Amino acid sequence: MKTFPDTFLWGGAVAANQVEGAWREEGKGLSTSDLQPQGIFGPVVDRVAGSKSLKDVAIDFYHRYPDDIKLFAEMGFSCLRVSIAWTRIFPNGDEQQPNEAGLAFYDRLFDELAAHNITPLVTLSHYEMPWGLVKQYGGWGNRRVIGFFEHYARTVFTRYQKKVRLWLTFNEINMSLHAPMTGVGLPETSSKSEIYQAIHHQLVASAMAVEICHDINPDARIGNMLLGGLVYPLSCKPDDVFEALQENRKWQFFGDVQCRGAYPGYMLRFFRENDIQLDITDADRQILESTVDFISFSYYMSGCVTADETLNQQMRGNILSMVPNPHLQSSEWGWQIDPVGLRTLLNLLWDRYQKPLFIVENGLGAKDIPDATGVVQDDYRISYLNDHLVQVREAIEDGVKVMGYTSWGPIDLVSASKAELSKRYGFIYVDRDDNGEGSLARSRKKSFYWYQEVIATNGASLKG
Ligand code: BG6
Repeated sequence: MKTFPDTFLWGGAVAANQVEGAWREEGKGLSTSDLQPQGIFGPVVDRVAGSKSLKDVAIDFYHRYPDDIKLFAEMGFSCLRVSIAWTRIFPNGDEQQPNEAGLAFYDRLFDELAAHNITPLVTLSHYEMPWGLVKQYGGWGNRRVIGFFEHYARTVFTRYQKKVRLWLTFNEINMSLHAPMTGVGLPETSSKSEIYQAIHHQLVASAMAVEICHDINPDARIGNMLLGGLVYPLSCKPDDVFEALQENRKWQFFGDVQCRGAYPGYMLRFFRENDIQLDITDADRQILESTVDFISFSYYMSGCVTADETLNQQMRGNILSMVPNPHLQSSEWGWQIDPVGLRTLLNLLWDRYQKPLFIVENGLGAKDIPDATGVVQDDYRISYLNDHLVQVREAIEDGVKVMGYTSWGPIDLVSASKAELSKRYGFIYVDRDDNGEGSLARSRKKSFYWYQEVIATNGASLKG
């Protein structure tokens, strides 16, 4: 019988700014996320003027994490992906001394996970950075930010060396091309040169983190995190096929640098032809040679491209402009559902890099309506997740080394793209709406019991 490896990690993934709330508690500083109440593509808003953001309270995980972790443990999680809010540790980003209250919070969180035998997988920066570093230094455009990040990374690697063994550097690092404020702290109006220079600094910082992590704890494993933006050619016209290859390289470029330790030739050509002159030092090149131990990625949907530019602009998903695939259905948010794409992506990444893979985000955002008894009967979510997991199992049969699977938002949380609560991913329902109304009470959806069984049987209960 096809099965998952015994060591396979099962669980869910959240990000600090989408669950924690407590945005000004215990010395936390302002982050880019705090200043983007409309989501990662939204404008930067002056919060001092009194504007509200759903993320200020989010789902109040900061105070409710013990109960939430209990529910994750009830589902049988062996892994939880969380992120550290950089601003809880260094409120402005450039301090020498960390904020002890912030460090203590994550100590408590990791202890709680350990008490339930749940392995933490920790992202250093998930769609947020200290606003102080943007305002005073110009975000990742400034080389000095590498040093501030290095100090932050060293601080948390040291503090949590006995509690955390699995780390990720930057969430969806390729996202900076589409949401530069969120990714690298640069205004949307930035030029391509400015964005790629900031990305270069971030790639150097990521490689530095790999080295520091290994120095501090040789048993730790650290990965990158890519938005797996798998793209197909709309037709078999050679021009469309090449267009798809180019489009895939837009995200593979990040993986190529982080896994192979150098800029690929196709990128050097792109820089040349677009008059992008980057400041890349010999020291940078040497640092980039510290490559990640494993590759993590998110996967929600696939897309198509054609060499026909007008058609290319017709559909917009989370971040990519893509042409609809006539063979696929879409979610309520227009994301095209493609379980086989996950098998393709796993094989593609394995063939390209030969490094272990970790699926750290996958899931269906939907408008859940509790039934008369108050339970969400989310068969649509069950079917989405089942079909994707079946393909993960197929990829493992293909010989791909997969470390684990953490579904996105195992508990409802504030969505990233539009900062909504009505777009729900959870196995656990949270009573809070887009206006911030609701008791914040948690309840189990139908999918809660389904996932519990999947984990208990190590995938044997999957259908298909
Ligand atoms: C990924 C992010 O892009 O997709 C998450 O890493 C995000 O932070 C997730 O929440 C789903 O996107 P959205 O916009 O539906 O929340």
